[in-house]
Amino acid sequence: MGRQLLLEHINVAGIQSYEVYKQKGGYAALEKALKTMAPDAVMEEVKKSGLRGRGGAGFPTGLKWSFLDRKSTKPRYLVCNADESEPGTFKDRYLMEKIPHALIEGMILSSFALGANTAYIYIRGEYFYVHKILEKAIDEAYAAGWLGKNIMGSGYSLDLYMHIGAGAYICGEETALLESLEGKRGNPRIKPPFPAIAGLYGAPTVVNNVETIAAVVPIINLGGDEYAKIGVGKSTGTKLISASGHINKPGVYEIELGVSVEEFIYSDQYCGGIKNGKRLKACVPGGSSVPILPVDLITKTAKGETRLMTYESLSDGGFATGSMLGSGGFIVYDETACIVRSLWNFSRFYHHESCGQCSPCREGTGWLEKVLHRIEEGHGKMSDIDLLWDIQRKIEGNTICPLGDAAAWPVASAIRHFRHEFEYHVKYPEKVKDPKHGHYEPIMPPKKEEAVIV
Ligand SMILES: Cc1cc2nc3c(=O)[nH]c(=O)nc-3n(C[C@H](O)[C@H](O)[C@H](O)COP(=O)(O)O)c2cc1C
Ligand code: SF4
Repeated sequence: MGRQLLLEHINVAGIQSYEVYKQKGGYAALEKALKTMAPDAVMEEVKKSGLRGRGGAGFPTGLKWSFLDRKSTKPRYLVCNADESEPGTFKDRYLMEKIPHALIEGMILSSFALGANTAYIYIRGEYFYVHKILEKAIDEAYAAGWLGKNIMGSGYSLDLYMHIGAGAYICGEETALLESLEGKRGNPRIKPPFPAIAGLYGAPTVVNNVETIAAVVPIINLGGDEYAKIGVGKSTGTKLISASGHINKPGVYEIELGVSVEEFIYSDQYCGGIKNGKRLKACVPGGSSVPILPVDLITKTAKGETRLMTYESLSDGGFATGSMLGSGGFIVYDETACIVRSLWNFSRFYHHESCGQCSPCREGTGWLEKVLHRIEEGHGKMSDIDLLWDIQRKIEGNTICPLGDAAAWPVASAIRHFRHEFEYHVKYPEKVKDPKHGHYEPIMPPKKEEAVIV
């Protein structure tokens, strides 16, 4: 197991409470910053650390912070994106549930660096039991003097609020989140202007993911340069990965970026290999929105290099032969999984969650779902496969927010790598109607010349 910067004390009894968190070194980074550092110095450490946003896009955090409009006379806001609804992703929930003060300390540190006196945690509605945990942690932080006016005599003041969403995936998109926080329907805004210029209530705002904000604590404890030594290239530090699917040990793992994908899947420290001795068929490494990788591209890139758990390596080869680290929602498929069925499931989700503002997404996600459903149910035609390809092409890049792309990319990659499975569904409708569908005797690896469902 590599270094544990976020989850080191996760199994310590009582770590949810302020007292135990403090005993384990909690709030030391904040104390250091408030007593010995100027806000710009905190930002400088974050820049040096190379930290990239853990919400999905991997944008450099220090750079994002530097875009904040400092000339504006309006208040500045920090908003934590705790909406976490990406299928396959559950690491923010784990962090908030197990060690809530790591997020609270990160929020205060980050707000201090940004000069924000008001901050919000926008949390997914369905995480109702986590709301209570966070609320208690916020109250404890106020009682201990880490929140409120003139924190620890530093002259810096901060109020922190938790806002509970109503359970819409689109409210995780940062501008939809801001609309929702303002009390409106969560429709994404057209950008520019970006939130750093005109965000919450039209004021300069930074929106960051839970894990990104929590990572600021070890960055200040270690120093940005030390943090940047962990990882490979531009993928620095540690990353939480939510591992699910056909593996022996599903769960949340903190990895040092740069671990090989093979080690992550097969080592007992992490996923512990494929369940029931079955063979690996495919993997979606970064949440349902990213391209699926077939078995031959999971542990090696198309160039034959070892595939690493880094932003760069997972996307090596572009969308033709690569994927993305995304939010770290690592979904593993064994040889019994049906790719068409899984894709139809994802498409139902995107259709349901489209906010409906742009027609390519509103109509296109519905068409993807309909066509995938009929192929899966054994009523498809060969031309439906090209129709699916055509629909996803018309969505990608033609929408206000990336939900459209998120719906299109998995379809494109599934057709690119598993076209034979779609063809099999069309050619042998009686087999796909088999009630045992999805659980056929394993036939591996999938042969491209002759369609097989395994
Ligand atoms: C449809 C959609 C849903 C998203 N959901 C989340 C989410 O649940 N949590 C999150 O942190 N980012 C989510 N994002 C990304 C945010 O828009 C934004 O990039 C992120 O919160 C920035 O934080 P970071 O820089 O720390 O990664 C979503 C984006 C889209 C398009
Ligand atoms: S892409 Fe979809 S979710 Fe995003 S704004 Fe357009 S319709 Fe709404």
